[in-house]
Amino acid sequence: MNILIMNGPNLNMLGMRETDIYGHETLGDIEAKCRQLAAGHDMELDWFQSNLEGELIEKIQLAVGKADWIIINAAGLTHTSVVLRDALSLFPGGVIEVHISNVHSRESFRHISLISAIAKGVIAGFGASSYYMAINAIPNLHSET
Ligand code: DQA
Repeated sequence: MNILIMNGPNLNMLGMRETDIYGHETLGDIEAKCRQLAAGHDMELDWFQSNLEGELIEKIQLAVGKADWIIINAAGLTHTSVVLRDALSLFPGGVIEVHISNVHSRESFRHISLISAIAKGVIAGFGASSYYMAINAIPNLHSET
């Protein structure tokens, strides 16, 4: 099983960015834990972060035929990007949307996600554990897709 974990703009700044909301873990810390979890499930993990919408779209296109699942924290692009949603829609595997913070308890513009409707599910508000919960969910979901 191949999974791709994608991270959108500003997530490279975790650890120093709005730590009251996002905590003190860096993206590198989260990646290390995700790699550990994925290995435990015998999954191949490809990890990607970009601040550029076009790079995220190209990465999704390249994942077609390679990845079975995309776990994505699209960050601010979640709320704005039709093109990112279109790219995720063309991906034939499963998509899981994750957020570190509970976007529904924050500003109203974060309550809208253009991705949720085409995702298998959404995990938000559990800090870095949102990523870990998504990885752990996949073995149970696989037979359904
Ligand atoms: C986020 C929530 C988004 O609203 C925000 O723009 C982010 C991070 C989260 O993980 O909580 O950059 O996706």
